[in-house]
Amino acid sequence: MVNGDPGAAATVGGASWLALLRGDVTYRRRFSLLGREWDLFPGVFSPMQSHSTGFFSRAVPQREGGTFLDVGCGSGVMAVEAALAGCRKVLAVDLDTAAVDNTLHNARLHGAEAVSAQVSDCFADIPPQLRFDTVFWSLPYAAVPADDPSALDTGAHTICDVGHRCLRAYLSGVGGRLAPGGRAFLGFSDMGDHAALVHTAEENGWSPRLLAASSGEPNPNIEHHLYELISMRR
Ligand SMILES: C[S@@+](CC[C@H](N)C(=O)[O-])C[C@H]1O[C@@H](n2cnc3c(N)ncnc32)[C@H](O)[C@@H]1O
Repeated sequence: MVNGDPGAAATVGGASWLALLRGDVTYRRRFSLLGREWDLFPGVFSPMQSHSTGFFSRAVPQREGGTFLDVGCGSGVMAVEAALAGCRKVLAVDLDTAAVDNTLHNARLHGAEAVSAQVSDCFADIPPQLRFDTVFWSLPYAAVPADDPSALDTGAHTICDVGHRCLRAYLSGVGGRLAPGGRAFLGFSDMGDHAALVHTAEENGWSPRLLAASSGEPNPNIEHHLYELISMRR
């Protein structure tokens, strides 16, 4: 819909989107999703403003008793849901301290003891020996060129992948984080740059396979995509 059009990417969903994420607007702090109540800390990506959180939480396949790495955990809904669904160990990471604190808070709220969380720039700050059965990132889903003014917004990284930095970090590092037989997934949208996804995946030995697509309230004009990354090197 808005591929390759950064101006549209910045405004789809309403010009207020980045303002909401910057914390210009007072959030409702408590929200309901997937039949549970959650708290949202200021400045953290809001599942109230996006269909993606609920969709990906339901759609990413988890291995019963397996381990899960949730990159870009935001408020922690996905990490907590995975733990409550039977993952024995869930590591949630985010660039933002507020998101890490929010995830730990929501894990405590729901007694999800399998969840731990830490700050990490994609995989960079995760102990190198750790490997997971399932790895997922709901990528900041609007592709924005590095010279676009919205790239300078303080909240931009919650929703904007500036210059494909997140895409590159994830696709170049995810293979090194998989346990034997592990599966890698990626959350994307039609606000992303699909050509860059395919190109960057192939450069790193992956073929992205679309598993599911969904749109819905509160932003039915955006379609969210779940990809599994299939290794071309196996
Ligand atoms: C689209 S939001 C998804 C949040 C959450 N997973 C959800 O579904 O509600 C993308 C998340 O990635 C985080 N993020 C952005 N750049 C990152 C990076 N370099 N390393 C780790 N997390 C990052 C953002 O802070 C944000 O929480």
